[in-house]
Amino acid sequence: MSALSKAAALSAVTKPRLTAKAAAKTTGTVPAWTAKAMRRLGGENVVDVLTRQHRQIKRAFVKAALPGPRRRRDFDRLMRLLAVHEAAEEAHVHPVARRALHNGRLLAARRRGEEKEAKKLLVELWRTGPDGKGYLRRLNEVRRMVTRHAAREEREEFAQLRKALTVPRLRMLGAEVKLTQAYAPTRPHRWANNEAANKLTAPFLGPVDRTLDAIRHARAS
Ligand SMILES: [Fe+2]
Ligand SMILES: [Fe+2]
Repeated sequence: MSALSKAAALSAVTKPRLTAKAAAKTTGTVPAWTAKAMRRLGGENVVDVLTRQHRQIKRAFVKAALPGPRRRRDFDRLMRLLAVHEAAEEAHVHPVARRALHNGRLLAARRRGEEKEAKKLLVELWRTGPDGKGYLRRLNEVRRMVTRHAAREEREEFAQLRKALTVPRLRMLGAEVKLTQAYAPTRPHRWANNEAANKLTAPFLGPVDRTLDAIRHARAS
Protein backbone atom coordinates (compact mmCIF):
# COMPACT_ATOMS: atom_id res chain seq x y z
CA MET A 1 0.00 0.00 0.00
CA SER A 2 1.41 3.42 -0.93
CA ALA A 3 1.98 6.10 1.71
CA LEU A 4 -0.87 8.10 0.22
CA SER A 5 -3.43 5.29 0.40
CA LYS A 6 -2.24 4.42 3.94
CA ALA A 7 -2.89 8.01 5.00
CA ALA A 8 -6.34 7.94 3.38
CA ALA A 9 -7.22 4.67 5.13
CA LEU A 10 -6.01 6.05 8.48
CA SER A 11 -7.94 9.24 7.97
CA ALA A 12 -11.14 7.24 7.29
CA VAL A 13 -10.67 5.44 10.62
CA THR A 14 -9.66 8.39 12.74
CA LYS A 15 -12.10 10.92 11.22
CA PRO A 16 -15.58 9.38 11.28
CA ARG A 17 -17.79 11.03 8.68
CA LEU A 18 -20.63 13.13 9.99
CA THR A 19 -24.08 11.79 9.24
CA ALA A 20 -26.14 14.05 6.97
CA LYS A 21 -28.26 15.05 9.96
CA ALA A 22 -25.26 15.87 12.13
CA ALA A 23 -23.64 17.81 9.31
CA ALA A 24 -26.83 19.79 8.85
CA LYS A 25 -26.89 20.57 12.55
CA THR A 26 -23.27 21.67 12.50
CA THR A 27 -23.44 23.85 9.42
CA GLY A 28 -26.95 25.15 9.92
CA THR A 29 -27.93 23.91 6.46
CA VAL A 30 -30.14 21.03 5.33
CA PRO A 31 -28.75 17.53 4.56
CA ALA A 32 -27.27 17.05 1.06
CA TRP A 33 -29.97 14.63 -0.09
CA THR A 34 -32.68 17.05 1.10
CA ALA A 35 -30.97 19.92 -0.69
CA LYS A 36 -30.93 17.84 -3.90
CA ALA A 37 -34.63 17.01 -3.57
CA MET A 38 -35.38 20.67 -2.88
CA ARG A 39 -33.50 21.76 -6.02
CA ARG A 40 -35.56 19.30 -8.05
CA LEU A 41 -38.71 20.79 -6.56
CA GLY A 42 -37.56 24.29 -7.42
CA GLY A 43 -35.98 25.21 -4.06
CA GLU A 44 -38.64 27.85 -3.63
CA ASN A 45 -39.40 29.55 -0.33
CA VAL A 46 -42.71 28.31 1.15
CA VAL A 47 -44.08 31.85 1.56
CA ASP A 48 -43.42 32.62 -2.12
CA VAL A 49 -45.07 29.33 -3.18
CA LEU A 50 -48.22 29.91 -1.14
CA THR A 51 -48.52 33.63 -1.93
CA ARG A 52 -48.28 32.84 -5.65
CA GLN A 53 -51.00 30.23 -5.22
CA HIS A 54 -53.22 32.80 -3.48
CA ARG A 55 -52.96 34.96 -6.61
CA GLN A 56 -53.72 31.95 -8.85
CA ILE A 57 -56.79 31.13 -6.73
CA LYS A 58 -58.09 34.71 -6.99
CA ARG A 59 -57.78 34.60 -10.79
CA ALA A 60 -59.39 31.14 -10.85
CA PHE A 61 -62.46 32.50 -9.00
CA VAL A 62 -62.94 35.11 -11.74
CA LYS A 63 -62.64 32.51 -14.52
CA ALA A 64 -65.02 30.07 -12.79
CA ALA A 65 -67.70 32.80 -12.75
CA LEU A 66 -67.58 33.39 -16.51
CA PRO A 67 -70.41 31.86 -18.56
CA GLY A 68 -69.64 29.57 -21.47
CA PRO A 69 -68.40 26.08 -22.33
CA ARG A 70 -65.16 26.44 -20.34
CA ARG A 71 -66.92 27.03 -17.04
CA ARG A 72 -66.90 23.35 -15.96
CA ARG A 73 -63.19 23.07 -16.61
CA ASP A 74 -62.45 26.35 -14.81
CA PHE A 75 -64.63 25.27 -11.88
CA ASP A 76 -62.76 21.95 -11.57
CA ARG A 77 -59.45 23.79 -11.68
CA LEU A 78 -60.55 26.17 -8.93
CA MET A 79 -61.67 23.27 -6.71
CA ARG A 80 -58.36 21.52 -7.30
CA LEU A 81 -56.28 24.62 -6.55
CA LEU A 82 -58.17 25.24 -3.32
CA ALA A 83 -58.11 21.61 -2.16
CA VAL A 84 -54.37 21.05 -2.66
CA HIS A 85 -53.46 24.49 -1.30
CA GLU A 86 -55.37 24.10 1.94
CA ALA A 87 -54.22 20.48 2.38
CA ALA A 88 -50.58 21.57 2.29
CA GLU A 89 -51.15 24.48 4.67
CA GLU A 90 -52.94 22.20 7.12
CA ALA A 91 -50.21 19.57 6.93
CA HIS A 92 -47.09 21.76 7.03
CA VAL A 93 -47.58 25.49 7.47
CA HIS A 94 -49.96 25.83 10.43
CA PRO A 95 -48.15 23.15 12.49
CA VAL A 96 -44.83 24.97 11.96
CA ALA A 97 -46.42 28.34 12.75
CA ARG A 98 -47.87 26.86 15.94
CA ARG A 99 -44.41 25.84 17.13
CA ALA A 100 -42.20 28.59 15.72
CA LEU A 101 -44.16 31.81 16.27
CA HIS A 102 -44.61 33.37 19.70
CA ASN A 103 -48.40 33.66 19.24
CA GLY A 104 -48.43 30.67 16.87
CA ARG A 105 -51.04 28.57 18.68
CA LEU A 106 -53.60 31.36 18.51
CA LEU A 107 -52.80 32.27 14.88
CA ALA A 108 -52.92 28.66 13.69
CA ALA A 109 -56.19 28.02 15.54
CA ARG A 110 -57.80 31.07 13.92
CA ARG A 111 -56.65 30.10 10.43
CA ARG A 112 -57.80 26.51 10.93
CA GLY A 113 -61.20 27.81 12.10
CA GLU A 114 -61.53 29.88 8.91
CA GLU A 115 -60.46 26.93 6.76
CA LYS A 116 -63.07 24.69 8.38
CA GLU A 117 -65.82 27.24 7.69
CA ALA A 118 -64.61 27.70 4.12
CA LYS A 119 -64.58 23.93 3.57
CA LYS A 120 -68.24 23.66 4.59
CA LEU A 121 -69.12 26.27 1.96
CA LEU A 122 -66.85 24.57 -0.58
CA VAL A 123 -68.65 21.26 -0.09
CA GLU A 124 -71.97 23.03 -0.80
CA LEU A 125 -70.48 24.73 -3.86
CA TRP A 126 -69.09 21.40 -5.10
CA ARG A 127 -72.52 19.80 -4.74
CA THR A 128 -74.19 22.71 -6.54
CA GLY A 129 -71.71 22.55 -9.41
CA PRO A 130 -71.24 25.16 -12.16
CA ASP A 131 -74.61 24.35 -13.76
CA GLY A 132 -76.61 24.27 -10.52
CA LYS A 133 -79.10 26.76 -9.14
CA GLY A 134 -77.48 29.49 -7.03
CA TYR A 135 -74.00 28.68 -8.34
CA LEU A 136 -72.81 32.28 -8.72
CA ARG A 137 -74.15 33.28 -5.30
CA ARG A 138 -72.35 30.39 -3.60
CA LEU A 139 -69.20 30.97 -5.63
CA ASN A 140 -69.14 34.61 -4.55
CA GLU A 141 -69.71 33.64 -0.92
CA VAL A 142 -66.74 31.25 -1.01
CA ARG A 143 -64.61 33.80 -2.87
CA ARG A 144 -65.15 36.47 -0.20
CA MET A 145 -64.36 34.04 2.62
CA VAL A 146 -61.24 32.61 0.92
CA THR A 147 -59.92 36.06 -0.04
CA ARG A 148 -60.24 37.33 3.56
CA HIS A 149 -58.59 34.18 4.87
CA ALA A 150 -55.68 34.42 2.41
CA ALA A 151 -55.09 38.09 3.31
CA ARG A 152 -54.93 37.18 7.03
CA GLU A 153 -52.52 34.34 6.35
CA GLU A 154 -50.20 36.62 4.41
CA ARG A 155 -50.38 39.44 6.93
CA GLU A 156 -50.29 37.55 10.22
CA GLU A 157 -48.74 34.15 9.54
CA PHE A 158 -46.53 34.23 6.44
CA ALA A 159 -44.85 37.54 7.30
CA GLN A 160 -43.81 36.18 10.71
CA LEU A 161 -42.70 32.82 9.29
CA ARG A 162 -40.42 34.58 6.84
CA LYS A 163 -38.68 36.30 9.77
CA ALA A 164 -38.71 33.36 12.21
CA LEU A 165 -37.38 30.58 9.96
CA THR A 166 -34.01 30.25 8.24
CA VAL A 167 -33.88 30.38 4.44
CA PRO A 168 -33.05 26.63 4.14
CA ARG A 169 -35.99 25.79 6.41
CA LEU A 170 -38.32 28.00 4.37
CA ARG A 171 -37.13 26.26 1.20
CA MET A 172 -37.51 22.83 2.73
CA LEU A 173 -41.07 23.70 3.73
CA GLY A 174 -41.68 24.89 0.17
CA ALA A 175 -40.55 21.47 -1.11
CA GLU A 176 -42.75 19.66 1.43
CA VAL A 177 -45.74 21.74 0.37
CA LYS A 178 -45.17 20.90 -3.32
CA LEU A 179 -44.76 17.19 -2.58
CA THR A 180 -47.96 17.08 -0.53
CA GLN A 181 -49.85 18.92 -3.26
CA ALA A 182 -48.79 16.31 -5.81
CA TYR A 183 -50.79 13.65 -3.95
CA ALA A 184 -53.46 15.62 -2.06
CA PRO A 185 -57.22 15.26 -2.67
CA THR A 186 -58.45 17.51 -5.50
CA ARG A 187 -61.92 18.35 -4.16
CA PRO A 188 -63.48 19.24 -0.81
CA HIS A 189 -64.60 16.32 1.39
CA ARG A 190 -67.17 17.01 4.09
CA TRP A 191 -65.81 14.56 6.64
CA ALA A 192 -62.14 15.36 6.13
CA ASN A 193 -62.22 18.65 7.99
CA ASN A 194 -59.67 18.43 10.78
CA GLU A 195 -55.95 17.73 10.90
CA ALA A 196 -56.27 14.11 12.08
CA ALA A 197 -58.95 13.20 9.53
CA ASN A 198 -57.04 14.95 6.75
CA LYS A 199 -53.84 13.03 7.52
CA LEU A 200 -55.66 9.71 7.72
CA THR A 201 -57.74 10.14 4.58
CA ALA A 202 -55.38 12.03 2.22
CA PRO A 203 -53.41 8.92 1.09
CA PHE A 204 -56.70 7.28 0.13
CA LEU A 205 -58.70 10.27 -1.14
CA GLY A 206 -55.88 11.77 -3.23
CA PRO A 207 -55.53 8.82 -5.65
CA VAL A 208 -59.32 8.29 -5.76
CA ASP A 209 -59.94 11.95 -6.67
CA ARG A 210 -57.20 11.89 -9.28
CA THR A 211 -58.61 8.74 -10.87
CA LEU A 212 -62.08 10.30 -10.99
CA ASP A 213 -60.59 13.47 -12.52
CA ALA A 214 -58.85 11.41 -15.22
CA ILE A 215 -62.09 9.56 -16.05
CA ARG A 216 -64.05 12.78 -16.23
CA HIS A 217 -61.47 14.48 -18.46
CA ALA A 218 -61.33 11.43 -20.75
CA ARG A 219 -65.13 11.55 -21.14
CA ALA A 220 -65.12 15.30 -21.77
CA SER A 221 -62.43 15.15 -24.47
FE1 LIG B 1 -55.38 28.53 4.36
FE1 LIG C 1 -53.46 30.02 1.92
